[in-house]
Amino acid sequence: MRIFISGHNGMVGSAVCRRLSREPNLELITRSRSQLDLTQADQVREFFAEERPDAVVFCAAKVGGIHANNTYPVQFMTDNLLMSVNAIQAAFENNVRRFLFLGSTCIYPRLAPQPIVEDSLLTGPLEPTNEAYALAKIAGLKLCEYYRRQYGVVYHSVMPTNMYGPGDNYHPSNSHVLPALLRRIVEAKENGDSEVVIWGTGAPRREFLYVDDLADAIWRMLNIKEPPSWVNIGTGIDISILDLAKKIAAVVGYEGLIKTDPTKPDGTPRKVCDVSLLKKLGWSAQVSLDEGLRRTFADFVAEARSGVLREA
Ligand SMILES: NC(=O)c1ccc[n+]([C@@H]2O[C@H](COP(=O)([O-])OP(=O)(O)OC[C@H]3O[C@@H](n4cnc5c(N)ncnc54)[C@H](OP(=O)(O)O)[C@@H]3O)[C@@H](O)[C@H]2O)c1
Repeated sequence: MRIFISGHNGMVGSAVCRRLSREPNLELITRSRSQLDLTQADQVREFFAEERPDAVVFCAAKVGGIHANNTYPVQFMTDNLLMSVNAIQAAFENNVRRFLFLGSTCIYPRLAPQPIVEDSLLTGPLEPTNEAYALAKIAGLKLCEYYRRQYGVVYHSVMPTNMYGPGDNYHPSNSHVLPALLRRIVEAKENGDSEVVIWGTGAPRREFLYVDDLADAIWRMLNIKEPPSWVNIGTGIDISILDLAKKIAAVVGYEGLIKTDPTKPDGTPRKVCDVSLLKKLGWSAQVSLDEGLRRTFADFVAEARSGVLREA
């Protein structure tokens, strides 16, 4: 079995490579963006015709924080649409029977009832700041569903919650909440600061999944003969941002104060996915938040020491 893992240098793609490389009889095919630009249809067609993989795990995407998504909607929409359409089409034309596409819980409606169930996709308006990205992702996910319905190929998707772990982005102002907090708390400890201030009241509740767990869930989904069109991948457990910050402080060994700044916006009060379908399919998260944070802190230190900490 030869599997193409796109975006293998990214956080999710590298975790998928780590997990799948443990399986015997699998040959992993990878290409960096400089070798294969997935927005270029000719390159993608040529690649699939030459390599003819049996399956694809599609981890490539143009991803970014709120600011980048909000400022460059044209690039977020076109790049993601082109990458998905090019790859799904070329895969089908070259007899790829299995295609696993990466969605995200951030493409569900902004006010989806909590915990978010799979059926809530396309039932309401999207979060305006990442609408362009979400629309492109939804198009990719639905295109997989249509290929499956029309041609009988098993093209399907997963909807991961917020991910963290090795290879995360630690940009000081444009990273996700968990890596941003980790970095600030590590720096506060190094600088001997007596307090760290977090944005908002600290009350909003979010869910976090260690990225190696996602990779394991992806492997599980690839082994299901008739998987659902899309399935949430998460822990189903949420935590307040203040409690998350306190857990990170404990892992880092920071003993200063964690203060909130209620003058800053909180965002949506709660975001957590329903994992009933995932459990029915025989998978649940293995790495607890405490364990995941310990591993992530160790990786952060190692990545910073060796000069490969990602900050873009
Ligand atoms: N991280 C999360 O919390 C999270 C949560 C839910 C869902 N997801 C989904 O998981 C997927 C991967 O996310 P990630 O966090 O792993 O992102 P990431 O770390 O930024 O990785 C994305 C990968 O895509 C590659 N890529 C981008 N544009 C490309 C192009 N034109 N041609 C070829 N490759 C290209 C990048 O290559 P370069 O390294 O060369 O730029 C990178 O390796 C995305 O679909 C995302 O929506 C992520």
